[in-house]
Amino acid sequence: MTSPARVTVHGDKPYDVVIGRHLLGELPGLLGRGVRRVLVMHPASLEATGEAVREDLVAQGYEAFAVELPDAEEQKTAQVAAFCWQVLGQADFTRSDAIVSVGGGATTDLAGFVAATWLRGIKVVHLPTTLLAMVDAAVGGKTGINTAEGKNLVGAFHPPAGVLCDLAALESLDRWDLVAGLAEVVKTGFIADPRILELVEEHADALREWGTRPTADETWAVLAELVERSVAVKARVVGEDLTEQGLREILNYGHTLGHAIELAERYQWRHGAAVAVGMVFAAELARLGGRLPDEVVDRHRAILTSLGLPVTYRGDRWEQLLGAMRRDKKTRGDLLRFVVLEDVAKPTRLEGPDPALLAAAYAEISKEPPTGRPGVPVQLGV
Ligand code: GLY
Repeated sequence: MTSPARVTVHGDKPYDVVIGRHLLGELPGLLGRGVRRVLVMHPASLEATGEAVREDLVAQGYEAFAVELPDAEEQKTAQVAAFCWQVLGQADFTRSDAIVSVGGGATTDLAGFVAATWLRGIKVVHLPTTLLAMVDAAVGGKTGINTAEGKNLVGAFHPPAGVLCDLAALESLDRWDLVAGLAEVVKTGFIADPRILELVEEHADALREWGTRPTADETWAVLAELVERSVAVKARVVGEDLTEQGLREILNYGHTLGHAIELAERYQWRHGAAVAVGMVFAAELARLGGRLPDEVVDRHRAILTSLGLPVTYRGDRWEQLLGAMRRDKKTRGDLLRFVVLEDVAKPTRLEGPDPALLAAAYAEISKEPPTGRPGVPVQLGV
């Protein structure tokens, strides 16, 4: 068996992201000394995995408890957080005890938030089970819950004590969840690592067909490299700018329009699908503004389409999307801000673009692109 890869996230309290297979033996090392009690937090759909992790912790000498959460975004509420605080209180969790999350991005967000707030902060180790959580949500310390007014409006920056990306968890991942996770991988390629783009271009067919036939060893190796490279970029960015004062903003490439599309679709689109459209919009903005060569925009469409991700959106929604972008919490003052590229791996910001430029970029994505592949499903969220 090949030994796991290890990426260190630097900062006030450095931590490791371990990438490999069957990694539970690494958990005590990440929890560190002094931890006696551990609360394993998992959604209902991962009961068996959560229980296996709890039993493993007991076998390793911890007093371990498990709490079952609602699935998906339903768990990211103040009520569910309050229930978890109750469990921690009744089990006498002290500041030297810890939480282990097992699940996708919603679980790492909630568990991280509960860890950040219990006794003003206890350790959390994330065991992400989706590609999206491995390459994005579990790394970097963003935690949060939703309120009636919007997503992630309450939260804290609380870096984990470690992250275990067990690739075996991806074996049973829904095909379109894997593809949606690849949108964030492609984003990372465009903002920082051209080799990611080459790997996706070379292996798009196998990645798009994920789960429809046994996965070849070569595809597993490619996926491991994509996770490692994506985590390495995120580690570098959040190690330098944990609280999003500057550099970290580049991770939002494609997200300004992407978030607006998610809202317009009432969160029935997968996040990665909306970000895919958002990246093509940002690329068109940069191209029409004279910053980005045509071929890099074409490359966006070609790569995303080859994975089965959408690159266009309804032409009749522009005013609604513009309104949502203006309300986005990342807008500073009255000005709309976008991360755009000057080339692959050369991100920059575009602040307060001319409304005519915005509308022109939208016109480019609200019609079928020339490289569209007929027959590829575009709506992943349904
Ligand atoms: N998902 C973007 C970030 O972690 O900053």
